[in-house]
Amino acid sequence: MIDRIEEMAKRALAELAVIQAENLEGWRLKYLGRNGELNGLMRSIGKLPTEDRPSAGQAANLMRSQLETTFELRCAELTDKQDQESSLDVTMSGHTAMLGSLHPVTATLREVRTIFSRLGFRSVVSPEVEWDEYNFEKLNIPQDHPARDMWDTFFLNSDDVPGSMLLRTHTSPAQARVMEQVDPPIRVIAAGRCFRYEDVDASHESMFHQVEGLVVDENITMADLRGTLQYFVRSMFGADREVRIRGSFFPFTEPSCEVDMTCLFCNSEGCRVCGRTGWIEMLGAGMVHPVVLEMAGYDSRRYSGFAFGMGLDRIVMLRHGIDDIRHLFRNDLRFLQQFV
Ligand code: PHE
Repeated sequence: MIDRIEEMAKRALAELAVIQAENLEGWRLKYLGRNGELNGLMRSIGKLPTEDRPSAGQAANLMRSQLETTFELRCAELTDKQDQESSLDVTMSGHTAMLGSLHPVTATLREVRTIFSRLGFRSVVSPEVEWDEYNFEKLNIPQDHPARDMWDTFFLNSDDVPGSMLLRTHTSPAQARVMEQVDPPIRVIAAGRCFRYEDVDASHESMFHQVEGLVVDENITMADLRGTLQYFVRSMFGADREVRIRGSFFPFTEPSCEVDMTCLFCNSEGCRVCGRTGWIEMLGAGMVHPVVLEMAGYDSRRYSGFAFGMGLDRIVMLRHGIDDIRHLFRNDLRFLQQFV
């Protein structure tokens, strides 16, 4: 009898050692269940001669507890393994969270601000939705003056407010706003979005960025304008850049000029970027018009100043070799991720 019990236990343990999780319950019924093999053997113990019963009973009980313990251990082992396989593999490499980064226009603007701050320029903000008065009139561009044709303007319907509103076509209204708030000396930078009714193409967008500069003090001359812009161009594009000044026209500066720098792609030899001229147009500038100073309440015999306005997007494009302004504002991550 004891041999039969031991034989059964050996078989049961061998099966248990290689069992799959889904067969555990079948194994338990087969060996430990009410009609299982162990109980069958127990029942036949009753038919043994009396003197053999105690030792057989003892052997059977020992086997039961051994099988039960081993069964429980095996259950724990298999469910543990299953959990691990289905949910978590701690050896797997993780997913990196996607981090944002500065837009190339923002990054460049910060650099521009830093360069001018070294010269003592303070940064100011000015509204994007502007009164006609600041965008034009206080800049010496009267209503119906042909000079308004220089800026194709988005006007806003504003029947319920006196005076007409528009989306600023340049950052120059910041000049008038600063001058009406503070007295000279003034050294400010005002940057931000501007809007024009443009035929959109690779170099024109209806929304773009400008950086405005304004300096007003006693004895400010064109030499200060040149020196300041030369310092900026060299800090931004390299110490070997040269600047040149060409005569131009803006209603709010007199004299007015355009400022160019030597092409950084061909070193003035002439290439596609500079249109074979060797020069790249940077900005419009000039000495603040006495009429503008007077409108701001300044004595134009005592004070003089210079102002400039440059296209920020163009600077970003030059620095990164971007050939189409529209890429900047499409929010295509494949494009933007190149500047992380
Ligand atoms: N506001 C002018 C423009 O957008 C540029 C400019 C600014 C010119 C300041 C002179 C002085 O065309």
